[in-house]
Amino acid sequence: MRKGCIMLFSAAVFLAVGLLFCGPALAGEADSCISCHEKVSPGQVADWRTSKHAGEDVTCVDCHGDKHQKATDGDLAQLPSEHVCAECHEEQFNQFSKGKHNFGWTSLNALPITHVEPDELMEGGRGCGGCHNMGIKSEAQKKEQHDKGYRYQNNSCDECHTRHSFSKKEAQSPRACQQCHMGYDHPQWEMWSSSKHGERWFAKQEGRLDKNAPAPTCQYCHMPNGSHNNHTAWGFLGVRLPLPKDKQWAADQVTILKALGVLDPFTGKPTARLDAVKAVDLARLTQKAWEDEREKMIKTCANCHAEQYARRQLEMGDSMLQKADRLLADAIETVAALYKDGILKKPDTYAYAYPDFLYFLRTGGGNLEQASYIEQVLFQMYMKHRMRTYQAQFHVNPDYAYWYGWAMMTKDLVEIKDLAKTMRATHGAVK
Ligand code: HEC
Ligand code: HEC
Ligand code: HEC
Ligand code: HEC
Ligand code: HEC
Ligand code: HEC
Ligand code: HEC
Ligand code: HEC
Repeated sequence: MRKGCIMLFSAAVFLAVGLLFCGPALAGEADSCISCHEKVSPGQVADWRTSKHAGEDVTCVDCHGDKHQKATDGDLAQLPSEHVCAECHEEQFNQFSKGKHNFGWTSLNALPITHVEPDELMEGGRGCGGCHNMGIKSEAQKKEQHDKGYRYQNNSCDECHTRHSFSKKEAQSPRACQQCHMGYDHPQWEMWSSSKHGERWFAKQEGRLDKNAPAPTCQYCHMPNGSHNNHTAWGFLGVRLPLPKDKQWAADQVTILKALGVLDPFTGKPTARLDAVKAVDLARLTQKAWEDEREKMIKTCANCHAEQYARRQLEMGDSMLQKADRLLADAIETVAALYKDGILKKPDTYAYAYPDFLYFLRTGGGNLEQASYIEQVLFQMYMKHRMRTYQAQFHVNPDYAYWYGWAMMTKDLVEIKDLAKTMRATHGAVK
């Protein structure tokens, strides 16, 4: 399995020599790691023993190197990046590299807010960084992390195949996705697990349905044929280029793109942020790219449903996004008018006197002022409630689609209008 050995094996003449030189030498190093760690961290060794790796003689040294040999020099152990896995799993590595997961770390770091929040939540991995650790880090990113004194979180593959079992079966469970795909702005776990699709899966787990009964999991729809390259048509932001054909919807998406800072709010021209959006693959940028993803998904649904049934379901998702965008654009324009009329002051960090979704959750700190309450409500409308409105449509969840999504958006809009009215009235009074 080691490169050197494979080369020797491939030349039949050297077969015997290869066995003589590689076999025993490796076994010796590996044995010392195992026999000491059996005492130091027995749980880890037990876990590794359950893995396919143990049976294939892929041992501690294959991933951690052999520089560390003593109880006192653990820091010499290499903590393997995805490139180490790639030595033996090139196919999965290449697929992963092209997929959306590979952008987790880069997209996190592209946000200004990331750099003023506590580091424990970022590089330390207990907050945003715990989920966005997904993605192969560049040398520059690794150096930055290292310089800040963070040594771990070098690997994405172990986010689904947890170490040291590195199991395929574990990764095939929808629970492998739960830790990250839950909560505030992407409750896919909650939506799926309480949908009919999820209910079927749980019924199978309990043996109430035949083991061959169809029950689509996250992986079934998002990693078809085991592909590690994951994309969807709308993606997270729910915006796309070219803009939708419907004129009002296109105008509403332009308003949202301005609040994302991707379009200049006054000239409508693209800003530098558009390049950042492109760089992290935030949105499908051509009609074809969008349609390819959509058609792939419909094909998947059609394994269990009539094709036109599936198509209609997804079109309803698009249509709900359109309706949600109408409400959101109205709210953005209401807040934008407060900037225009001098009732809300432009924070120094904003490029424009216009709402900026990339700065919203700020609590102050660094050179960032605290966000105003009306901005917080607007942010929540975008990030939490608009997301739920359309994500739930796609994940077939009635409760999230209505009560946690649409109903909350209408409430946000009323609140924003009310707050704006009061702010205008009291602003006049102060003057
Ligand atoms: C004589 C005992 C001993 C031997 C032999 C040994 N280790 Fe360790 N190893 C330790 C101890 C002790 C630690 C530190 C644990 C701690 O900090 O709590 C450690 C730490 C580690 C770490 C974690 C490093 C980190 O940054 O946290 C890795 C990985 C590791 N060992 C792998 C190996 C491998 C691979 C081998 C064989 C090449 C090996 N160990 C051999 C005792 C040993
Ligand atoms: C297939 C590759 C692979 C093998 C084989 C492997 N490890 Fe690891 N190990 C990893 C990865 C990946 C990490 C996480 C690295 C990070 O967080 O940066 C890790 C982390 C560790 C850590 C530090 C983190 C912790 O939870 O304590 C220790 C200690 C460790 N391994 C010990 C071992 C020992 C002992 C063996 C052999 C029984 C072994 N590893 C075999 C891939 C491997
Ligand atoms: C030295 C080669 C080698 C390295 C390095 C290696 N693997 Fe493997 N891996 C194997 C072999 C061999 C198998 C067994 C293949 C089989 O059963 O088809 C395997 C199997 C697997 C499986 C399937 C397990 C199952 O339950 O069927 C996963 C997942 C996996 N490896 C992940 C990883 C990850 C993640 C890393 C890096 C942290 C890694 N491997 C590093 C050789 C390697
Ligand atoms: C460790 C956290 C983590 C785990 C575990 C995880 N994901 Fe993700 N996932 C992310 C992050 C972060 C993103 C966004 C990446 C980015 O910033 O571009 C993402 C993006 C996605 C997307 C792309 C959506 C789009 O924009 O088109 C899909 C699909 C997806 N994940 C499916 C899954 C599935 C299925 C599983 C389980 C098999 C899973 N994820 C497990 C963190 C995770
Ligand atoms: C619980 C895990 C988790 C936490 C914590 C988390 N994210 Fe995410 N993030 C995700 C997932 C999963 C996605 C993809 C969701 C989707 O496509 O519906 C995502 C998407 C994103 C995206 C869009 C990426 C894209 O290309 O589509 C950005 C930017 C982002 N998160 C930044 C952050 C920031 C900043 C924080 C902390 C304030 C944070 N995230 C906290 C899991 C998390
Ligand atoms: C988002 C979760 C997720 C991540 C991250 C992930 N995998 Fe997987 N992996 C899976 C799933 C699910 C399967 C099972 C696919 C199937 O059903 O065939 C799998 C299967 C595998 C297999 C077994 C292939 C086979 O046909 O037996 C290997 C090897 C593997 N992954 C390696 C990797 C490597 C290397 C990485 C990092 C570059 C990685 N995986 C990252 C979810 C993930
Ligand atoms: C029955 C198929 C199906 C299942 C099962 C499924 N999804 Fe989805 N998922 C979709 C569809 C359809 C979309 C929207 C695609 C589009 O944009 O056209 C989507 C979109 C997504 C997105 C992008 C943002 C969004 O929500 O619209 C992420 C991330 C995601 N799914 C993750 C998951 C996770 C994690 C699970 C399991 C907990 C899961 N999905 C289960 C079909 C499914
Ligand atoms: C692996 C099989 C499978 C796949 C793939 C699948 N479904 Fe389903 N779906 C089912 C089953 C089984 C049910 C429950 C019986 C029924 O209502 O038809 C169901 C139910 C539904 C329902 C009705 C839910 C309710 O509350 O009554 C909708 C809508 C739906 N699926 C849409 C989709 C869409 C859209 C896709 C693709 C993104 C999809 N399904 C993919 C198996 C599947």
